[in-house]
Amino acid sequence: MDEPKGIEQRVEEFLTAPQLAITTPRRFRRIRRRALQVWSRAVGGLGDLVFERGVETTGHAQELAHYHPDRVWYQASGWSYLPRILPKREVGPTDVFADIGSGKGRILMQAARYPFARVIGVEISASLNGVAEANLDRQRSKRAAGSIELVTADATAWEVPDDLTVAYLYYPFVGDTFRQVIDNLVASLERAPRRLRLIYALPEMEDYVVGTGVFARARSVHIVNRGFSHRLALYEADPRPQPRQNG
Ligand SMILES: C[S@@+](CC[C@H](N)C(=O)[O-])C[C@H]1O[C@@H](n2cnc3c(N)ncnc32)[C@H](O)[C@@H]1O
Repeated sequence: MDEPKGIEQRVEEFLTAPQLAITTPRRFRRIRRRALQVWSRAVGGLGDLVFERGVETTGHAQELAHYHPDRVWYQASGWSYLPRILPKREVGPTDVFADIGSGKGRILMQAARYPFARVIGVEISASLNGVAEANLDRQRSKRAAGSIELVTADATAWEVPDDLTVAYLYYPFVGDTFRQVIDNLVASLERAPRRLRLIYALPEMEDYVVGTGVFARARSVHIVNRGFSHRLALYEADPRPQPRQNG
């Protein structure tokens, strides 16, 4: 069944509809593009006004830990990313969530409101993890999840728990680091076959994910965040073993 659509999604769909691009004169297309930018900035600003009260997750952060060709510095997911790709009703009390590359903890704060058994944040920067800890503390009263754990580590060295059922990646790293983390998820599935949903925002290395032969794309959504179109994909691991296609 299709998701019920919010006003934000409806306006965004209208402004990005391909039919409109084909049938309208160039002048109107420019106006439409501008309207989309203004709209997405307004939605982003409104999100910050409503959700950022008492916490601090906005802005960029580039630190010494990010001086590595594979690592991406901090920028938060849009406020609508998690609820759009994973509605609360699709999560149960035995689900375990990890944001791999969790930054200041925006997604962790949102996941903490879902009925997860555990929510885990894995972050290479100790100072970003410190900010995440303070943010989560301030939102303690809104928590529905059983427990929250923050790990300061390189994601490649983090041991994937064999009960992890939802992994979230917002373009945290590329290259061999990304490949190693996906391989670690696959190894965990081989040890303990189960349903694992992998959410990947800006899925540049989607081919590697699907090439494992373990993950298949179940859905994707397009979200315009402050003028830029971002794709988010959700992959499901098939519990039956499949032949690997990667390397
Ligand atoms: C684009 S931000 C996403 C932050 C957060 N997941 C969100 O969606 O709001 C990417 C994060 O990944 C972290 N990161 C980059 N390389 C990493 C690595 N090798 N291990 C763990 N975290 C890493 C960065 O420090 C940064 O906080």
